[in-house]
This record gives sequence, structure tokens and C-alpha cells, in this order.
Amino acid sequence: MERKAFLKTLGAGAAFALTFPCLQGCSKDGDGEENPVPTGVDFTIDLNSAEGADLQNNGDFILKNDVVVVKNLQGQFVAASQICSHQGTDQVRFIAEDGGFFRCFTHNSEFDQNGTPLNTITNNPLKIFSTELNGNILRIFD
Ligand code: FES
Repeated sequence: MERKAFLKTLGAGAAFALTFPCLQGCSKDGDGEENPVPTGVDFTIDLNSAEGADLQNNGDFILKNDVVVVKNLQGQFVAASQICSHQGTDQVRFIAEDGGFFRCFTHNSEFDQNGTPLNTITNNPLKIFSTELNGNILRIFD
């Protein structure tokens, strides 16, 4: 049986599924990069510095060393991989809505502050890093 005849026997829906299997989740769109999740993370941010000034208000976040460093809506510091657990783009950001969560803007996967997926784009948890505040020095580490 020729391919065209075979697809016709399956019906239009199945033919579409076979012909275009990866329209949403399989392409490397966004920034088109697959980046490794950061490992061996251990750095500090002086909250009195210009860099730290961007973490003054609840809901603020900065990007550093492929990590999203957040002052969440309760005023606690949390940190997650900027590299998405779906296809490795660096489009993860903090969303200061609905209690605060992470979203990757490549395919809109969402994660809670523990890294647990909130939708079905991926089942892979987002890497979360530890944080520790000593005076004005915030440490982010594995
Ligand atoms: S790379 Fe697909 S949602 Fe992040």
C-alpha cells in the first residue's frame, strides 16, 4: 500500500498526527538552545549592592549564572534553574502571581517553588537550589 493510500485509510486525524507529530513540544524554538542545568552552583549576592537592589521587593527576581534568584511573595529567597527541564532553553522566569511560580516561556511549562511541574508540558521537575541569608549576603548553592 502506498503511503498516501495508507494515510487515507487512517482518517484525517491520524494522518495529521503521523505527518506533524511535534508541532508544539518537540521543536527547539524559543532561543533554540539546549543548555545544561547548572551544577556545582555556589555564589553570593550582596543585597546592599546594585545587583542586590533588584531583589528588594517581594516578587523581584534576577538572573545570575543560569539561576533565577527570587524574593518570593512571602519575602523568602528561593532559587531555581534558569534552564528549563523540558528542552533546556534558558527561558525560565519567576511569575509573581497566584502565590508565585516559575514559567518557561519557550513552551509555557510551569513549576511551583519546589520545582514540581504544574502543567503537562513536562513531567521533569525544575532544579531548585538552596538559599541562605547571612546578614546582607545571600548565598545560592547546590
Ligand atoms: S523548553 Fe519547553 S517549556 Fe521550557
